Amino acid sequence: MRALVAPKYTKPSGYEVIDLPVPSVQKPNEMLIKVHAAGIMTGDTLVAGGTMKLLFKAPFPIRIGIECSGVVINVGSAVKNFKPGDAVYGAAFGHPMEFENAPGYCSEYCIGRESLFVHKPAHLSFEEAASLGGFTLTAYQSFELGAKHLADRGKTLEGSTVFVPGALSATGALGIQVLKNVYGVGKIVATVSTSKVPLVEKYLPGMVDQVVDYTEFEDLSRIIPAGSIDFAYNTQWSSLESIIPLMNKENGVIVSIASLFPPKILRQAMGPMLPFWAAWVAALAQLYYRWLLRGTNIKLDFLSGNLGKKDDVEKTAEIIALGKVKSVMRVVKLEDIEAVRKACDEVYKGKGGLGRLIVKIV
Ligand SMILES: NC(=O)c1ccc[n+]([C@@H]2O[C@H](COP(=O)([O-])OP(=O)(O)OC[C@H]3O[C@@H](n4cnc5c(N)ncnc54)[C@H](OP(=O)(O)O)[C@@H]3O)[C@@H](O)[C@H]2O)c1
Repeated sequence: MRALVAPKYTKPSGYEVIDLPVPSVQKPNEMLIKVHAAGIMTGDTLVAGGTMKLLFKAPFPIRIGIECSGVVINVGSAVKNFKPGDAVYGAAFGHPMEFENAPGYCSEYCIGRESLFVHKPAHLSFEEAASLGGFTLTAYQSFELGAKHLADRGKTLEGSTVFVPGALSATGALGIQVLKNVYGVGKIVATVSTSKVPLVEKYLPGMVDQVVDYTEFEDLSRIIPAGSIDFAYNTQWSSLESIIPLMNKENGVIVSIASLFPPKILRQAMGPMLPFWAAWVAALAQLYYRWLLRGTNIKLDFLSGNLGKKDDVEKTAEIIALGKVKSVMRVVKLEDIEAVRKACDEVYKGKGGLGRLIVKIV
């Protein structure tokens, strides 16, 4: 079967489609899935590029993709909720791939764990389903955390003015929809680059109250009043410094999904694989963030999407099934390797893409 891989540490220009054996169910809670569409995320390209190699060694060839949709082919003896022929979407836990000897999810077949998959609603295409689950979960968990911090300060998300950098990034576009359609946020301010300004209304109709071209304003407080933002969902590595001056200094809350996480969150994600020096670096980064926040009462917290929380996975599936989020995505075909490499390069660089990158397999 065909599978997208990085034969060695490489930028996306070095990705290849190779032939790998079809994997088989090894454990009672596993399912063999014929993949129809796979989602590519920044982490996939960073692992393949070697950025994480000091943290862990991924075996070569590095198998790409941890999120997909498809049809169940067969199931292990303990699988209760799925049977062959069911259309599903879901994810693996993270990098390195949790299943020994299994291909990544950007392959014709993959192995999925029952608890990490849900049934695909009939109204969604396979491409749409592959684009929604993971980042809707991250948004939902981030906003639950944000709502808790706001409540500690006597505030609600609903009554807040919210800032999201990258309105048409994969995470931003879903985040804005969850904020508006699930939490009923009143006012959303969001940034995009110049060519995307007119596209915000097309992809997120009626959702963003103020669209700002971030490439025009090095200092965003020239266009967004300082102190006017109650809650920010930080989706960009480069944005924290520019968000802080916009925040309500007494009660503001920031949840960041794109920062150096505190050691506690890294340990949750990596367990005993986390090297001691990485925990030190992460702890040092927290001192830097504390320095950025000096003289304010802004609460900064961090979130790494956690598929292990079954209730959150179910709530996310409900948000998706009810149509509260719609896909913002671009789709390339696995057989067009040049298009796959080019689109993966946008994900790797964090520039130029629009919505989630989906690779259509079938
Ligand atoms: N913690 C978690 O659980 C979690 C989950 C998912 C993702 N993440 C992280 O979140 C980050 C974003 O992920 P993503 O999937 O949304 O990536 P993405 O879709 O590739 O986002 C990059 C997009 O944002 C825009 N952009 C780049 N710099 C910007 C800036 N300074 N301000 C506003 N927009 C900017 C770019 O468009 P233009 O070039 O047109 O501006 C680009 O299309 C990544 O670092 C990823 O690792 C974390």
